[in-house]
Amino acid sequence: MKNGIVETYQTYASKIGNRKALYGAVAKEFDIRTAIYPGSHIDIAPSMVIPKVTYIDNCKGAIDFFKRMDAIREFIGQNKEYPDACEIYFLGQDFTKPLEIEESDLLISQYAGFVGQAAKKLLKVGGILLSNDSHGDATLARFDEDYGFIGIVDRQNRIRCDGLDKYFALPKGKPVYLEAVRSFGRKRKGAWHQQD
Ligand SMILES: C[S@@+](CC[C@H](N)C(=O)[O-])C[C@H]1O[C@@H](n2cnc3c(N)ncnc32)[C@H](O)[C@@H]1O
Repeated sequence: MKNGIVETYQTYASKIGNRKALYGAVAKEFDIRTAIYPGSHIDIAPSMVIPKVTYIDNCKGAIDFFKRMDAIREFIGQNKEYPDACEIYFLGQDFTKPLEIEESDLLISQYAGFVGQAAKKLLKVGGILLSNDSHGDATLARFDEDYGFIGIVDRQNRIRCDGLDKYFALPKGKPVYLEAVRSFGRKRKGAWHQQD
């Protein structure tokens, strides 16, 4: 890798936005101690607010980045917001294949496909799935009986647990077509609004 991990991560964070406040708000609200992040690429912000995080990604950029684990641990050690030692693990593999990892308090799904479906076994009963809907993963979780919809995080990273009926609802009570979400995901955003 040409640059050091700090520079590589900071360049990445400047593109995706610093998500420390998002992960920190969720960790604080739900007392999260452990997390699994399939499709993480090099978004290591969770480790700044959660003591034990396992990252999973099968792309070369992520695999190369996480080879520098000592430097990553040192960087997190200098920037973490909890007193415990940080525990950081990385698996450079396909998260849809069987994974031998302990269940965690939090499963993170950010722009990486149907993580909430593929990796739900890695979540403790009563654990939290933090998902955006970029690829339709939040929609699938919303209508999945294994999950309960307990809140949203707003743009100011405030967690709101009331008035949830208005989310994932189509105008005039039209049904959501989950097969369309699974088939098209992000390629046809809004596909689940139509049956065809
Ligand atoms: C668009 S990036 C998002 C990265 C990060 N979650 C973020 O929000 O900044 C999607 C990442 O998911 C990874 N990914 C997608 N499908 C995967 C799979 N089945 N197994 C492992 N990694 C996967 C890709 O390699 C890529 O690094």
